[in-house]
Amino acid sequence: MTLLLIGPSERGRVWRQIFDEAGEPMVFGEDAVDDPKAVSHLACWNPSDDLGRYPNLKTVISVGAGVDQMPPMPQGVALVRTLAPSVDEMVRDWVLMATLMLYRDMPRYLAQASEGEWRAHPPQRASAGRVGIMGLGRIGRAVAEVAGALGFDVAGWSRSGAPVAGVDVYGPDDLEPFLARTDLLICLLPLTDETRGLLSSRVFAMLPRGAALVHAGRGAQLDMEAMRAALDDGHLKSAMLDVTEPEPLPKDHWAWQDPRVIVTPHIGGQTDSEEGARHALAVIRASRTGDDLPGLVHGKKGY
Ligand code: GLV
Repeated sequence: MTLLLIGPSERGRVWRQIFDEAGEPMVFGEDAVDDPKAVSHLACWNPSDDLGRYPNLKTVISVGAGVDQMPPMPQGVALVRTLAPSVDEMVRDWVLMATLMLYRDMPRYLAQASEGEWRAHPPQRASAGRVGIMGLGRIGRAVAEVAGALGFDVAGWSRSGAPVAGVDVYGPDDLEPFLARTDLLICLLPLTDETRGLLSSRVFAMLPRGAALVHAGRGAQLDMEAMRAALDDGHLKSAMLDVTEPEPLPKDHWAWQDPRVIVTPHIGGQTDSEEGARHALAVIRASRTGDDLPGLVHGKKGY
């Protein structure tokens, strides 16, 4: 039984070395599969092939943090997402960069800079700002920790409503009070049936006037036209997006030109290949011993 890795050749090279050292069989690329029946684990971003081609498949491992790009799993196949500190750290840093950029008015200063305009607006201290994080998973908690250390007043909104140290946590039924106290809304939610389209005119209207949006969840959670309307009526001041629908965002999309919006091309985080390979080895071992698979996606929750 073997793991099949589909992905760029550089990732293949790193995984090959780590799997060889660990004495675990691995095949790189679908063309290299001699016997589909021998494939027990598949690691990829998005399988190009029909998963039914591998009748003995036990697990599919998403090489990223998200799994929304995956097709439905065949009966009996577990879906796992990679747990990699590299991604948690990188996305945390992107989110904090974006939060500080919006808080300190960078969209406005970038627009002024393009006109060579030297004009100051009153700056604010972090301790006067209220950050609200939607999604308190590994990344959300990492963001909360640093935002709190910077002095922001930090709240979170999560499905479980479970307590997180230093964070004022709101449960699913408390969206309105959560938004009402949030000047900087950060979305880090996974894409599920419940979160698709969540960032809507209804949500923007519940934020205080002049709030800002940092979006590093998934593009399909954001209604871009509702965001535009909220920017136009001044309800939202600015937004920074690392995810869009579709991706890539078309060249002629209004958001590229809008001085109130900064778009980056989904560069928040990328799994370090070595960490990804080591996580896959841990999944294979757990699957062999019957232990809990690290990063197992719970079908009903969708993450
Ligand atoms: C990136 O968006 C990922 O899911 O890893």
